[in-house]
Amino acid sequence: MALPSRLLENRTALVTGSNRGIGKAIVEVFAAQGANIWACARKQTPEFDAFMEKTSQFYQVTIKPIYFDLINEEELKQALKPLIINREKLDILVNNAGIAHGGFFQMTSLAKIKEVFEINFFSQLLLIQQLGKLMKRQGAGSIINIASIAGLDAEPGFVAYGTSKAALIYATKTLALEMANDHIRVNAIAPGLTDTEMAQQMEHKAKENMVGRSSNHRMATPYEIAQTALYLASDMSAFVNGQVIRVDGGMK
Ligand SMILES: NC(=O)c1ccc[n+]([C@@H]2O[C@H](COP(=O)([O-])OP(=O)(O)OC[C@H]3O[C@@H](n4cnc5c(N)ncnc54)[C@H](OP(=O)(O)O)[C@@H]3O)[C@@H](O)[C@H]2O)c1
Repeated sequence: MALPSRLLENRTALVTGSNRGIGKAIVEVFAAQGANIWACARKQTPEFDAFMEKTSQFYQVTIKPIYFDLINEEELKQALKPLIINREKLDILVNNAGIAHGGFFQMTSLAKIKEVFEINFFSQLLLIQQLGKLMKRQGAGSIINIASIAGLDAEPGFVAYGTSKAALIYATKTLALEMANDHIRVNAIAPGLTDTEMAQQMEHKAKENMVGRSSNHRMATPYEIAQTALYLASDMSAFVNGQVIRVDGGMK
């Protein structure tokens, strides 16, 4: 079977958190492989406008922004409404946007844990529920949830973040089974420490500890996570479903 010249030619992807970090790298890698992109961000900025224009021109693809805050259910629904009403084509959904939160359990309020879940878990479910309709109509789709090794490995001080990512991993596996009849694949990536603003904000000691446990003794680059997202988005992974791929340089 001949492979297309670009792996995502004529595919359309929606990527959340696409203005910086891992999401921005995913937009670049997907655009380089021919995908048209709905690039989601919280707000418009001149830097984001310039990034979208430069990337779409360079790779000859369409990149259109959608703005919403994941914590605001109504805002999210309103932002996605035009896509659903117009029955836009959607082949790939990357649930990337998220927040980190560190703090020992007894010092973490329930309100904070709920807030982390709103952003890292419930909003992802809402996105899948809303956009899954488009994929179902098309009879195909690939959903990629950016989880974390924190959702797989217990670590003191990460109860809010870790449990939100563990819930996302469970949902990934369950929805993969439920959506398989509609030929929609649902997979997750569990990155280790990755060189973005999120990692920069981490406490120095905790960061050093994680880098030390990685066999490669370094953080991942956002592009190394984006390459795995490309694999899951493309037909290269056509028979991969309900999986969580660790991209952590081999943690000890
Ligand atoms: N970096 C790591 O070490 C690491 C490791 C494992 C997993 N991950 C996961 O990878 C994903 C991307 O992380 P990153 O490292 O790229 O982080 P980042 O550099 O902090 O970027 C986070 C992105 O999420 C967006 N976001 C956060 N809260 C939002 C909200 N309420 N509404 C809409 N957008 C929101 C941010 O938008 P704004 O610019 O508007 O804030 C930004 O685009 C996250 O799910 C994270 O949990 C990261």
